Amino acid sequence: MDVLVTGATGRLGQRLAPALEGAGHVVRRMSRRGAGPGGVRGDLATGRDLREALSGAEVVVHAASDPRGDTWEVDVAGTRRLVQAVDRDRLRHLLYVSIVGVDRIPYGYYRAKYAAEQVLLASGVPVTLVRVTQFHDFVDELLSTARRGPVLPVPMGWRVQPVDVGEVAEHLTGLVAAPPAGGVVEFGGPQELSAAELARAWVAVHGNGAHVVSTPVPGRLSTAFRDGAAVPSGGARGRRTYEEHLRA
Ligand SMILES: NC(=O)c1ccc[n+]([C@@H]2O[C@H](COP(=O)([O-])OP(=O)(O)OC[C@H]3O[C@@H](n4cnc5c(N)ncnc54)[C@H](OP(=O)(O)O)[C@@H]3O)[C@@H](O)[C@H]2O)c1
Repeated sequence: MDVLVTGATGRLGQRLAPALEGAGHVVRRMSRRGAGPGGVRGDLATGRDLREALSGAEVVVHAASDPRGDTWEVDVAGTRRLVQAVDRDRLRHLLYVSIVGVDRIPYGYYRAKYAAEQVLLASGVPVTLVRVTQFHDFVDELLSTARRGPVLPVPMGWRVQPVDVGEVAEHLTGLVAAPPAGGVVEFGGPQELSAAELARAWVAVHGNGAHVVSTPVPGRLSTAFRDGAAVPSGGARGRRTYEEHLRA
C-alpha cells in the first residue's frame, strides 16, 4: 500500500519507514524539510504542502508531534489540518501514535494528545488510536537529564512500562494492514517497573556510580503515575526489556 508517515525524522519515524518498506509498502516520509529518500514536505503548524504530501495515501501513520514547541498548533490544530487534507476516496486507515494514559494523566502535553485523538474520532476517517508507553531511548534521555552529578533523583513510586521503539515500529507495521479499530488500542513493554528500578538499571549499565534517590513528588500528575495510569491495561506487549536495551 501507499503509506505516508508523518514525523518520519523522529525517534519512531526513523524506525517505522524501513519496517513498513520491509513489509512491502511504498513509503513516503513527511517532515517539515522533506529531505532524504522518499522525503516529502509538509508542515502541520501552517498546513503548507500538506495536501500534496497526502495525495494518493492509502494509509497514514501519524507520528509527528511537537512536545516542546507550539504543541496545540502542531498536535491538535495540525491533526485537524491533516484530516482535512487526506484524500478520503483513497484513504483506508489512519493510525495515530498516542500515549498510554493521555486520558487519565493531568499533563499539558497529554491533554493535547487526547484532544488530537478526539479530533480524529470526530473526523469520520477510519482510525486506530495506538496508545504506546515510553520508548526506552526516551527513558535514557530523561534519566541522563535528571542526573545531578553523583545523585540521580527520581519520582517516588511512579510506575511505567517502557517499550523498545523498534518493536513499536514492528507492531504498527502489523496494524497498518489490519482493519481500523475505530478507537484505542494499547501497546507497551514486557515489564512494569518503578522509576527507581529503571534508574538503578541505567546506572548499573552506564557505570557512572550515581546514587538513585526516590523523591516524593506532590500533585495530581504524580498521583496518576503512582496509581499506574501510564501502565497499559490491555493490548499486545513487546518482548525486549529495558535491561536488554541498555546492554545492547
Ligand atoms: N518518545 C516517547 O517515549 C513516546 C512514547 C509514546 C508515544 N509517543 C508518541 O510517538 C510519536 C513520535 O514520537 P517521537 O519521540 O518519535 O517524536 P520526535 O522524535 O520528537 O519526532 C517528532 C517528529 O514530528 C515532526 N514534526 C514536528 N513539528 C512538525 C510540524 N510542524 N509539521 C510536521 N512535522 C513536524 C518532526 O519532524 P521535523 O522536525 O523533521 O519536521 C519529527 O519527525 C509522538 O506522537 C509521541 O507523542 C512517544
